[in-house]
Amino acid sequence: MAAAPSEDACAMISLLGFWADAGVGYAYGEAPVDRMAEGRAKLRAPAKAPKAAPAPPPQPRAGAPAQNIAFAIETAKDFAAAATNLEELQAAIAGFEGCPLRYSGARQAVFARGEPNAPVMVIGEGPGGEEDEQGAPFVGRAGKLLDKMLAAAGLTNRVFITNTVFWRPPGNRTPTPEEQAVCMPFVERAVELVKPQLLILAGGASAKAMLRTNEGILSLRGRWSVWTSADGGLTVPALPTLHPAFLLRQPQAKKKAWQDLMSLAVKLEP
Ligand code: URA
Repeated sequence: MAAAPSEDACAMISLLGFWADAGVGYAYGEAPVDRMAEGRAKLRAPAKAPKAAPAPPPQPRAGAPAQNIAFAIETAKDFAAAATNLEELQAAIAGFEGCPLRYSGARQAVFARGEPNAPVMVIGEGPGGEEDEQGAPFVGRAGKLLDKMLAAAGLTNRVFITNTVFWRPPGNRTPTPEEQAVCMPFVERAVELVKPQLLILAGGASAKAMLRTNEGILSLRGRWSVWTSADGGLTVPALPTLHPAFLLRQPQAKKKAWQDLMSLAVKLEP
């Protein structure tokens, strides 16, 4: 039988869990790294065109003041519209310089994972530490729980997973409505390209941004809505549910999330 961990080991595990929950996911090197300076240096470099946009418009500058947000959204719309498939969309996001989150310490753009023709699309809030490191959404603790839940509902290999923003918010804070608005044209284009039957909106920040509501997730969850694209041209039934990171903190809420997934499984065409 394995020996029980010592009191010191338990204290260390608890401390590491505390730091991880606070968004501190890495042991960095001995020397400090000024990631804000990296962002500033990139800003001084000429804007790079995404593969899909032959003649890119001038790009908004990061650290964007409020009046620049509208310009960033228009630029994002142009970039997103030029993408004819998911690979081009990923390249367009990677080349997009209008989201302030890009310059707030994120290592890379995190777009999506899963089946390009999936019947179900999961839209989370934004990448966390593991996602920022690996470049794929929902690959950390919350993602592992999400995968287990999707598997239990028979949805393995039947989902496409992305987020409302594509760069990790500093300290794993909730993305702001402005950050989400700047990324939304890319999210919408992803929905257009994947053409899912149903959307799962994981967490309050996702549900509020996608459904354009201020209602809290506890009242939204489990109630079917219809997501509509900004131009009204596309609609997809959408189910807000509890975020897996919330379920890790409040395991007693898993029953509600399970009910939500069952409602989705029933609605899903074979
Ligand atoms: N939480 C999210 O909302 N998205 C991720 O990709 C990871 C954690």
